[in-house]
Amino acid sequence: MSGELAGRTAIVTGGAQGIGAGVARALHAAGATVVIADVHVAEGGKLATALGERARFVELDVRDAGAWSRVVAQAQRAYGRVDVLVNNAGVAAIAPFAEHSEEAFRRVLDVNVMGLFHGIAAVAPAMRQVGGGSIINVGSIGAFRAYPLMTGYITSKWAVRGLTRAAALELGADGIRVNAVHPGQTETPLTDGADFDTAHVALKRVGQPADIAGAVLFLAGDGSRFVTGADLVVDGGDLAGAANWASVPDQNGEEGDRHGSVQLAA
Ligand SMILES: NC(=O)c1ccc[n+]([C@@H]2O[C@H](COP(=O)([O-])OP(=O)(O)OC[C@H]3O[C@@H](n4cnc5c(N)ncnc54)[C@H](O)[C@@H]3O)[C@@H](O)[C@H]2O)c1
Repeated sequence: MSGELAGRTAIVTGGAQGIGAGVARALHAAGATVVIADVHVAEGGKLATALGERARFVELDVRDAGAWSRVVAQAQRAYGRVDVLVNNAGVAAIAPFAEHSEEAFRRVLDVNVMGLFHGIAAVAPAMRQVGGGSIINVGSIGAFRAYPLMTGYITSKWAVRGLTRAAALELGADGIRVNAVHPGQTETPLTDGADFDTAHVALKRVGQPADIAGAVLFLAGDGSRFVTGADLVVDGGDLAGAANWASVPDQNGEEGDRHGSVQLAA
């Protein structure tokens, strides 16, 4: 197989659907062997079968450190190496702050932060063995601002940025790069039924999984060989517009609404 990632092995968590499935498809198309790791057995298995050669599904709950060790060992046995990890699996909980239960808060942190920590810890020794690798953590534009009703999710995504930089510093000497990709509003099963707001988005549309996958592909490949500890925002210019919300007056001269779209006078 030719392709930029030919001969390399990539693990994609949450790869059964949404952004993770888009990433798995893109890495596979670039020549990589792809291990789709997810709790969603039916969808993950279906995607691996559809991709065919150089793809397999493994059941993995990213919160389980023991399961992580088994997945990495299995990949090493089957393919001899692990070069890329995309820490993409994530969950959200929607609730007003006062009603955000400790249980829901912890669950979001367990998947979105501890899941990434376990993944990095599990793949680092395998990557060291082959002289390096690339780890890509999926954050969110919610790692640069806040949204109401998502306290646990926002907290977890800000943590992704800290974890990314701390791990990049420690693993750089082993040739292991650690970066974060931060999607904006993206059409996936997670956002099914969401009321997307693109009025302030520079490119005037929401993202598709393939849009996010393009950035992941860049960070997985050699074109980004000198990039580590970085935050790559992939949002069509959502944050660029959102940063101005508070200071843009609406038509009545009042401050703009930070949570809605801003109506600029013609
Ligand atoms: N869709 C968006 O608009 C958007 C925006 C910003 C960031 N993100 C982030 O992108 C990532 C993917 O989001 P998505 O929209 O594709 O979500 P999704 O819900 O469509 O897919 C998430 C996948 O993760 C898997 N998963 C959940 N918990 C898991 C666990 N404990 N172990 C293993 N797998 C698990 C699910 O089974 C699912 O296949 C998440 O980290 C999310 O926070 C999404």
